[in-house]
Amino acid sequence: MDLRTSYDVVIVGAGHAGAALAIALRQKGFSGSILLIGDEPALPYERPPLSKDYLLGKIGAEHLLIRPAEFWPENKVDLAVRCAVQELDPDRRRVTLSDGRHFSFGWCVLAAGGKVRRLACDGAELGGVHTLRNVSDVEHIRDELDATSQVAVVGAGYIGLEFAAAACELGKRVTVIETQQRVLSRVTSPVISRFVEEEHIRRGVSFHFGQGVRAFRGEGALQEAILDDGTAIPAQMAICGIGIDAETRLAEQAGLACDQGVLVDSCFRTSAPDILAIGDCSRHPNPFADGLWRLESVQHAQDSAATAADAIIGNALPYAQVPTFWSQQYDMRLQSAGLSMAADEIIVRGETGSTPFSAIYTREGKVIGIDAINAPRDFMAARKLIKQGASPDRDSLRDPGIPLRSLT
Ligand code: NAI
Repeated sequence: MDLRTSYDVVIVGAGHAGAALAIALRQKGFSGSILLIGDEPALPYERPPLSKDYLLGKIGAEHLLIRPAEFWPENKVDLAVRCAVQELDPDRRRVTLSDGRHFSFGWCVLAAGGKVRRLACDGAELGGVHTLRNVSDVEHIRDELDATSQVAVVGAGYIGLEFAAAACELGKRVTVIETQQRVLSRVTSPVISRFVEEEHIRRGVSFHFGQGVRAFRGEGALQEAILDDGTAIPAQMAICGIGIDAETRLAEQAGLACDQGVLVDSCFRTSAPDILAIGDCSRHPNPFADGLWRLESVQHAQDSAATAADAIIGNALPYAQVPTFWSQQYDMRLQSAGLSMAADEIIVRGETGSTPFSAIYTREGKVIGIDAINAPRDFMAARKLIKQGASPDRDSLRDPGIPLRSLT
């Protein structure tokens, strides 16, 4: 494709957030030129199926695409794949690729996402030790799965647990190693962690809590993971899902304000004029919780993109979406809404030992979050309660016989 040298909007990063921004701009009637730059070889694709249906071979790569290939030219979005942006120059208003090409911009939007954390222990470079973030990661993992009977999963977060569930479905013996004392400790409460852990144990997964991996050992390829306490876990494959860090390199080099993410205002504007940052790489003030938040979710990628698109077309409105997250493990669908870390009470709705059930989080009586397991109606209704800042009485919240939506 012939690219111009100058664009009205240059988007750095062609993941969910970058693609969603280009789509939102066109949906909102923006007629200026758009360049979407991504360093992966693939067209913009969905990440959630990577650790689920794509890993299991239930869907092909074509089903991952956020939009079919023809969408981009039809909508006059120039797409530069396999292109890494090397430098952002806010004063000259241009980006430079690693191959030396420059593009000047009216607006630049950083949608560079997160970089996966890697273990630095001995043996971390052995064949069979993987991270799981991109299509190419999953392709390598799939190539090795047939020859794998035992898997060590490092990190009991979303990636680790979704992979553990998929590997169990494939008949692998799975051991999960987690430095904290429970699963999903970054994102949920002990009552949900306990239920999720038990669902995994019921299917044969073993857990080691309060432990990291001291070393991976093997002759050429992985044979075992050695834990901090010296326990050896036999494994031909290890999946490291120990979180991501915001990709801030370009922003920092350009002198933009950064602190564990590119700092933005409620319209996703950075400290430099006409440069915005959206999705996983940005940290924003959220109307539903104090402080600044870096949210890692598809919903946030899309909503921050929509807010940024409004700012670009001259209709800046502060971000006002209730954050949502979800995970699928076995037949268990966990849907979360709100930012519940500051809760002073957890109300369990339903029986904790069986689904559907939910944990509703309140602060001074106000609903601020929910984790719903196989309870989509509770999730939808709680999202409204959070948005409204509602304070229903706790007996009604607790009673599954009273529909939550009747409290909105
Ligand atoms: P995560 O932050 O959700 O979980 C990482 C886990 O690893 C934490 O429990 C942490 O305590 C543990 N950990 C950290 N260092 C460790 C170490 N050295 N040894 C053992 N455990 C350690 O991150 P995860 O699961 O890697 O996911 C990465 C990103 O992908 C996140 O942005 C996540 O939101 C996203 N994702 C979202 C999904 C969803 O919404 N369904 C599915 C898969 C990924």
